[in-house]
Amino acid sequence: MQILDGKALSQKIEGKVKQGVAVLKEETSRTPGLAVILVGQDPASSAYVNMKKKACDRVGFYSVSHEMPEDISQDAIENTISMMNKNPNIDGILVQLPLPPQIDTTKILELVDPAKDVDGFHPFNVGRLVTNLDGFVPCTPLGVMELLAEYDINVKGKNCVIVGASNIVGKPMAALLLNAEATVEVCHIHTDDLKKHTLNADMIFVGVGVINLITEDMVKDDVVIVDIGVSRTPEGKLVGDVDFENVSKKSSYITPSPGGVGPMTIAMLLSNTLKAAQLNTMDKN
Ligand code: GUN
Repeated sequence: MQILDGKALSQKIEGKVKQGVAVLKEETSRTPGLAVILVGQDPASSAYVNMKKKACDRVGFYSVSHEMPEDISQDAIENTISMMNKNPNIDGILVQLPLPPQIDTTKILELVDPAKDVDGFHPFNVGRLVTNLDGFVPCTPLGVMELLAEYDINVKGKNCVIVGASNIVGKPMAALLLNAEATVEVCHIHTDDLKKHTLNADMIFVGVGVINLITEDMVKDDVVIVDIGVSRTPEGKLVGDVDFENVSKKSSYITPSPGGVGPMTIAMLLSNTLKAAQLNTMDKN
């Protein structure tokens, strides 16, 4: 069993982004800029936004965060996004999800300039991903693909089972794996007999936030496990969706959670923002 060490790889990628920032500054006097919009006080969202801000500082990005109250209006968020779309110092715009129920999330995501959509949530970029064209790809599944590539794990022809069908993780994960010529199954909350599917999997990608959802009896020998879930136990410990202790014994490769996919998400946000800044600078030259 080998651990897929997302923490180590994310540090390597950060180093590369930092170099890219230095080159961009040297050649164009421009600093990549990221704007983050955070609505409400959800502790998990606040913690993620904080980690994203610190990572921006480490690589030398300019970053601003717009923190808004839970009862904010649709118009106020839309005005902020329109301002960021026009601001030449901002290359990337990230709206931390979920948004409160009074907000039309689709309308918000559709307002972000696709050229600044570093989360890859705009339907323009979703369409480009599904058709295997270059664009911005959501950070978590992109980070998973980078992690597999780092360990030379080839998905071509493999039975890949994704558990969770969200727009943020499961669906873009399916598109990336399909583009890489894997055979892909997407399971979700309404799937009958999850075990029937996972037992057939060469690789399992799970991110639903259910502690111990994947147990050793549900996987075959030498499976590759990518655990995208993060939950807090009643004792306050962060854990993934996989019974790591027992499933790891049957796995060829496995990510820990935390310390696997999480750090890769942030590394990919940095990498996407640098890419946006580079494209944005090219457009102007
Ligand atoms: N909420 C949960 N994951 C994410 C993410 O990757 N990006 C944003 N913007 N919000 C999230």
